[in-house]
Amino acid sequence: MSSTSTALARSFACDETQASPRPRRILRVIELGTPEEAAEATAMEIGAFICSKENAVLGLATGRTMLPVYEHLSQWHRTQDLRLDRCTSFNLDEYCGLPDNDPSSFVSYMHKHLFEKVGMPQAATHFPPVSGAPLLPEAYDDSIRQAGGIDLQLLGIGRNGHIGFNEPGTDPETKTHVVELDASTREANAGDFPDGAEVPTHAVTMGISTILSARRILLLATGEGKSEALETAFKAPVSPDCPASFLQRHPHVTVVCDSAAAAGCKELS
Ligand code: F6R
Repeated sequence: MSSTSTALARSFACDETQASPRPRRILRVIELGTPEEAAEATAMEIGAFICSKENAVLGLATGRTMLPVYEHLSQWHRTQDLRLDRCTSFNLDEYCGLPDNDPSSFVSYMHKHLFEKVGMPQAATHFPPVSGAPLLPEAYDDSIRQAGGIDLQLLGIGRNGHIGFNEPGTDPETKTHVVELDASTREANAGDFPDGAEVPTHAVTMGISTILSARRILLLATGEGKSEALETAFKAPVSPDCPASFLQRHPHVTVVCDSAAAAGCKELS
């Protein structure tokens, strides 16, 4: 793995006052120059975590931001024997109404960009149950618990502050549930579908409380288009208007961003 010596890393504890002692919270911000460097640093965080806990339970995200992360992990699996195949994974979300083998499904995305390349056994990979499956969405939270809980949850962020497919207005107590996608999210993801194909209107996503149950969160944001969402998530008060702001309540969050997205993180300390 190459060095990311240009990274600006900051760690600080939040919200500790003598009058009202609250649990210690760690927020680390790692800022790199380019999206590629930020993706490599994110892959290094994941790789280092897997090396420290080889049977790790990973929460995984899809989206364009994650493609270079999975490329790095696949390469390190090939060249440096990074053992992703010993991990268990739970993906954040999946569209409703698409067969698993639809090229635009998140199942297809994960197989193509990561699972096939690193030899993840299918039984170790999990996706939220979408319509037609025998399980209710909430059963996904039970499966996660039975696997021992998520050790490291990887997250992207939507321009409107969504995490998973928890759109603005989502209650922080939500478990895995069906959501109606915002028009802006469907528009942002239209490029993942063939010309003329409709982006599904609904999806199943881990809820905010499902995400916050992970032991550690690793959020990657790249590009100017994510700057405002990042700023609102970590500098504005916690609010359902920006679902990512609930991450302020999590005890162990690492944000990795490039300089374009970092405008929203600069004043965090
Ligand atoms: C994907 C997911 C979403 C994306 C977000 C950013 O599984 O849960 O929250 O992380 O929409 O997507 P990109 O990376 O395509 O900008």
